[in-house]
Amino acid sequence: MTEQFRISDEERRAIDSQLAEAPSRNGTGAYIEDVMRERMQRREFLKVAGAVGAAGVAVSMVPSALLPGTAEASGPAHGARLTFQPVVASTVDNILVPEGYTYDVLVRWGDPLVPGAPAFDVNNQTAAKQAQQFGFNCDFIGYYPLPPFVRNAVEADGSLQPAISEQLQKYFRPLSRTQSRRALLVVNHEYTSGTEMFPGYSASAPTATQVRVEIEAHGCSIVEIALESDGSHRFVQDSPFNRRITGSTPIRISGPLAEDPRIQTSENPRGRVVRGMLNNCAGGKTPWGTVLTCEENFDQYFANFGSLPTDSEAYKISARIPAPSGASDRKWENYIDRFDLAKEPNEYARFGYVIEIDPYDPTFKPIKRTALGRFKHEGATCVITADGRVCVYSGDDARFEYLYKFVTARIFRPFNRAHNLGLLNEGTLYVAKYNADGTGEWLPLTPANPALAGWTLNDILLNTRGAADLVGATKMDRPEDVEASPVTGKVYMALTNNTRRTSVATDPGEVAANPRLNNAWGHVLEMQETGNDAGATSFSWEIFILCGDPKNPAHGTFFGGFDQSQVSPLSSPDNVAFDSDGNLWIATDGMINSKDFEDTTLGVGTTGRRVSDGVFAVPTEGADRGFLRQFLSGIPGGEVCGPEFSGDNATFFCGIQHPGEGGGLPNTISAWPEGNAPAKPSIISVHKVGGGKIGE
Ligand code: FEO
Ligand code: CA
Ligand code: CA
Ligand code: CA
Repeated sequence: MTEQFRISDEERRAIDSQLAEAPSRNGTGAYIEDVMRERMQRREFLKVAGAVGAAGVAVSMVPSALLPGTAEASGPAHGARLTFQPVVASTVDNILVPEGYTYDVLVRWGDPLVPGAPAFDVNNQTAAKQAQQFGFNCDFIGYYPLPPFVRNAVEADGSLQPAISEQLQKYFRPLSRTQSRRALLVVNHEYTSGTEMFPGYSASAPTATQVRVEIEAHGCSIVEIALESDGSHRFVQDSPFNRRITGSTPIRISGPLAEDPRIQTSENPRGRVVRGMLNNCAGGKTPWGTVLTCEENFDQYFANFGSLPTDSEAYKISARIPAPSGASDRKWENYIDRFDLAKEPNEYARFGYVIEIDPYDPTFKPIKRTALGRFKHEGATCVITADGRVCVYSGDDARFEYLYKFVTARIFRPFNRAHNLGLLNEGTLYVAKYNADGTGEWLPLTPANPALAGWTLNDILLNTRGAADLVGATKMDRPEDVEASPVTGKVYMALTNNTRRTSVATDPGEVAANPRLNNAWGHVLEMQETGNDAGATSFSWEIFILCGDPKNPAHGTFFGGFDQSQVSPLSSPDNVAFDSDGNLWIATDGMINSKDFEDTTLGVGTTGRRVSDGVFAVPTEGADRGFLRQFLSGIPGGEVCGPEFSGDNATFFCGIQHPGEGGGLPNTISAWPEGNAPAKPSIISVHKVGGGKIGE
């Protein structure tokens, strides 16, 4: 490492002072670091962290949010500090934020992302252009602080050298709790919608160019942003970190399924590399500064599942997650053989995974982590277990599907990033069972489980739903995003809705954890791992919120016991995030169901008219537990995605996905954000005028 790239004394002082100045949230006046240090010493946790450096720094590197037992120090009134004036549900073609807040559009579909990228032209898109531009339908957002020593090194070398990577690991956690002047955003591009992208698009006969543009509009974008003096952010167009990973980028296959015969294809006979990632919805950030991006509804891209013989391996491993029997809606198979299962039967089993990417290294080759199983992964939320391993929660977003967690075999090492980058290849996958009495169990999906006698680990990882069926997991109302409170350690899962729950299930746990028939509005579950340890194999749970319009008794809503006359109505919780005070922030995908919300309640429209999706914030503890208020209203036709905070919670980021969807070019129902068609999926940042913590 050259002197130029060492952490400067100035940087070191800045980081140290950031740590020292971080105020306690425990109400005792003690710095949170001190509390953590005491607690960890009690639990001999320093056996994990202390072996690698000075205790003071080692402690800071363990994600404080994720330590076991934080609840006892956290006091009774967490999250009671939300003071913003809520916005009302709306149908206007603009973003609404509370008084005293302002928003900026950071980056839009088609914005040139890499040096030399062409300007967007809706009438002349090509795959080559789209591959250099911001993709479509943005979902997950991850905020990654970008310290100068990393930026300078990558600018000089073009890649993240190992020594810099290790320095980054050392300082990642404290940096993550600050407002960095430069940062990277990792943004998923979940799916495309030809009718909103191409004038004159024919769904029955898309052109080859349109298909290839759509493939390049999938995947994710890595973009650098810069904080301005007025508290806003801007997108840094010439950054060496800016990058696209698309539906055609080569991606390594790693973990137990690498080289399995069932993922070998004519293009890749070894089963080691796949072209692209698809339908990346939510995701997660690892404690070592990589992103986990999740393939969700990958089935829709493949055709002719019905051509597979029912006794074939390709059929059997995917019978619980089938692709369209005949032609796909997207018709990609018309031009690209690998999307046609009649021609390439094993290509399908190469999708449905969690992909790991290092956003700090522009040369990093993305990796599909097969040990985390194959299903419609909504997200991947990391929590450190009591013994220092890493737990990754991941919902399978489909009606009557399951919640999973993966626990690594090895521990997270706070000063060894190279070690941590290998953690997700080996571990145990579990699936959740909810008992009617408020207890729950994590059922191991391993060959040693008697219910899976005769299954190999690879059988389980390829056909994860089938394995979960056999062990007796609980069928849920569409598990979406999962987050753990940084204050209490409790785990929250959004269940977006399930209108097919039309009869009483036979499993009492299923009924208790998904208590409403025709659940059009969704709910939020609260779970507490036994011992507040994400590595536990049992938990307790309760319903936190039953969504809907609290003024409509037919909805049967519940808001953590709070007075329902004061809360905002919401429907279809999807992405969730926590602020550092332990308030839960919920973005919705389906206020469409608000056609059930009468205009007397919302003050807009008539029955059947759709209010826009939004962002809602709610304390989870204390006197205001359940006091849910709407913070932001999105754009007609669009959902709001990827809620994320800067490290100091002074900036809130979110994505506006598929604005105007349903109109089709040129008759779009939204002209946001530019005032004319096409409407563009975009990332926005929200801050307080004059600065300050979001929500307070
Ligand atoms: Fe892509 Fe489950 O939302
Ligand atoms: Ca989602
Ligand atoms: Ca989240
Ligand atoms: Ca969604």
